[in-house]
Amino acid sequence: MALSSQLVQSGIVSFCEQCARGLDGLTAHKARIELVSAELPKLLLDKELIAGLLNNLANGEGYPDARRPTMFDNEVPLYLDPQGLFSLRMYLWGPMEYTYPHDHNSWGVIGTASEGYEVINYRRVDDESHEGYARLVEVERLRLQPGETAFTLPFSKGIHKTGNATRASIVTLHFYGKILPRGYLNGFDIASNRVYRVFLPRQKKQLLARQALDCFEKEL
Ligand SMILES: [Fe+2]
Repeated sequence: MALSSQLVQSGIVSFCEQCARGLDGLTAHKARIELVSAELPKLLLDKELIAGLLNNLANGEGYPDARRPTMFDNEVPLYLDPQGLFSLRMYLWGPMEYTYPHDHNSWGVIGTASEGYEVINYRRVDDESHEGYARLVEVERLRLQPGETAFTLPFSKGIHKTGNATRASIVTLHFYGKILPRGYLNGFDIASNRVYRVFLPRQKKQLLARQALDCFEKEL
């Protein structure tokens, strides 16, 4: 029988509160990443808890809450630190589904509960001086086993594409540090050397409304 919604939530909350205590006083990204990389496998290998999360989500049990808007449509927030210092998120991947290459606004530790999660890391090799232009070179390709993790860093130091290299559906858990105040992610189109901004749904609508209003007023 699956764990109740309440038990699942309390398991996640106690894990995150323990991480908060461990992170307290750590200031370097490297030390924070090391700590979370040592802790996250405990959740990733807890089959009962992962099954409970999936069961609750599949049945709309209230926790986790899939209604909160997120940057990626396969993303479900599991825990947001009350002081905004970190968050834990679940990602669900259909067969062969991948993100586009993107950067991040925080450090992060990403790990998988299922076999077949692939992480492709890139280095940005242009000087970032031309708006809309970016050149990426692939530097690393990892295929993670259940319980294994990789990490990312803010902005151009943490560009990757990740996804599901299998024909099964898989689940991953990602722990991200404090969000730096940039307000968007960069998405990259490697074939055309293009970089573009990606906003949260609400911010995207506000931006489009402002742009449409500017154009609309010019016609008045
Ligand atoms: Fe990412």
